[in-house]
Amino acid sequence: MLREWWTSRLSRTASSAARRLGYPDELAALAARPRRCKATWRPHLEATRRTLLEQGRCHGDRQGCALILGAGLLEDIPWRDLLEHFGMLRLVDAVFPLTTRRLATRQRGRLELMAHDLTGVIDALAAGRTTPIPSDRMPPALLQDVAWIASVNCLTQLPLAPVAWLLKQGSCETAAEAHGQAIIAAHLEQLTTAGPPCCLISERADRRYDRAGGILAATDYGPLLDPRLAASGARLLEAWDWLVHPPGELANGETEIRRVAAWALAIP
Ligand SMILES: C[S@@+](CC[C@H](N)C(=O)[O-])C[C@H]1O[C@@H](n2cnc3c(N)ncnc32)[C@H](O)[C@@H]1O
Repeated sequence: MLREWWTSRLSRTASSAARRLGYPDELAALAARPRRCKATWRPHLEATRRTLLEQGRCHGDRQGCALILGAGLLEDIPWRDLLEHFGMLRLVDAVFPLTTRRLATRQRGRLELMAHDLTGVIDALAAGRTTPIPSDRMPPALLQDVAWIASVNCLTQLPLAPVAWLLKQGSCETAAEAHGQAIIAAHLEQLTTAGPPCCLISERADRRYDRAGGILAATDYGPLLDPRLAASGARLLEAWDWLVHPPGELANGETEIRRVAAWALAIP
């Protein structure tokens, strides 16, 4: 608990609004989980790292920069290996823990941190607006000298805090959910319009099970993702299951499995 409190307090956020919306606390809760769920998370973390490295190798540019979106704790980013193929990694997240900040200081000139809100809605939501339009373009400062982009396990995480905030402020579920979908669509648009080749790694579906293995809840992001990815000529690289909540993590013996997929976008 104390460790989580310090992780949250010592994190750097894209803005004070990001702190108000709870990003540092989310990051602190997330930070404890790879340790707790080491065995069940390992295949997912390894698959993500392997895919990033394969794709990074294909698009490597020793004079250029790789833009890594959703870098946060760097748990699933093979940053050391990627640095063999790029002059620099630009790491983007709404919140960075002290560990990543210290690493970037030690690797000054090779790892650059940009605390940035990819959705573009956080400040507006904290200011009381209820339906800010999500940003569907990345700012030029992020894209400068970028040879390759990777969006790493963050696409379906982007709406979580905004949707939770809207519900807390009294929005109805339908409106909040529509806003969440708009955020996901806008991020896909950011990737497909950015220019450089891009690797997207994202949850594609999830299932929550009761103790006896019966399905309690299911989300399928396919209808939201597939048409947009197909229209941009995305190529499916690989897919795997991630036991994100093994037995013991959730109340009442529930478990949750995510289907994760990796795509290559805008390959000439
Ligand atoms: C499941 S984590 C991805 C794991 C991460 N690649 C790692 O190794 O720690 C999702 C990440 O998306 C980030 N994120 C969520 N909303 C964001 C936003 N609006 N802008 C930028 N990053 C965001 C979170 O802070 C978190 O680090």
